[in-house]
Amino acid sequence: MLEVSDVSVRYDGAIAALQDVSFAVREGGVVALLGPNGAGKTTLLKAVAGMLPFELGEVTEGRIRFESAELLGAHPAAIARRGIALVQDGRQCFRNLSIDDNLRAASFVHPKNAATRLDMVFGYFPFLGEMRQRQAGLLSGGQLQMLVIAMALMGSPRLLLLDEPSLGLSPVMVQAVFDVVERMHRDLGMTVVVAEQTVPRLLKIATDVYVLSRGGVAMHAAPAEVDEAALQRVYLS
Ligand SMILES: Nc1ncnc2c1ncn2[C@@H]1O[C@H](COP(=O)(O)OP(=O)(O)OP(=O)(O)O)[C@@H](O)[C@H]1O
Ligand SMILES: [Mg+2]
Repeated sequence: MLEVSDVSVRYDGAIAALQDVSFAVREGGVVALLGPNGAGKTTLLKAVAGMLPFELGEVTEGRIRFESAELLGAHPAAIARRGIALVQDGRQCFRNLSIDDNLRAASFVHPKNAATRLDMVFGYFPFLGEMRQRQAGLLSGGQLQMLVIAMALMGSPRLLLLDEPSLGLSPVMVQAVFDVVERMHRDLGMTVVVAEQTVPRLLKIATDVYVLSRGGVAMHAAPAEVDEAALQRVYLS
């Protein structure tokens, strides 16, 4: 479904963030993208979603294809319309707007049938429906994480990219976030890539694991082959 081939990325013409990274996502898979701070996880997700030019980042080599179409050079909105949603780290939304308005704004990708999708989203996240007039900025970290995933769903993505959804959440909330990701994958057949540092819960649902280190792929393995010791070897190298 997604094929990143020999991609290198530089920021500001100088800082090499990725070097010859190849990364493939099969339709229907759940890919865990692991690696320590600064490994390049966010950069890789932003390269796929077309977000790098906004940060003086540039793909200097390689190609990125989604369902055989080249994504390099495409505008993020065009990439979103093709069916890719990136939920960035930092839980970005319009904090001074209501939950309802945030979800409606997020439907710009596919404005048709927004009302039907809103119902579906409230099915996955009932609390959002119960407090739909609440200002987004008043939500807890876990609730905000759910909101930004729900906003991505409003665009009917076929490939969902999640950047560190568990950051700063309590273990119970982390469990809840991954439960909902698992359900969306199972019920909607959505293909998912999740970038995290280490999350045992993620390895339970993953079909494929990539570990990045210093801008390169240090390991590509089946989840059963990835244990704490293997990760520590990469993280400490
Ligand atoms: N906007 C930017 N401008 C310049 N350098 C950047 C920028 N964003 C990231 N980098 C650099 O690129 C490298 C990869 O960073 P990236 O954010 O992709 O790592 P990460 O694996 O997502 O880390 P973390 O787990 O901390 O989120 C780092 O050396 C970082 O300092
Ligand atoms: Mg990151």
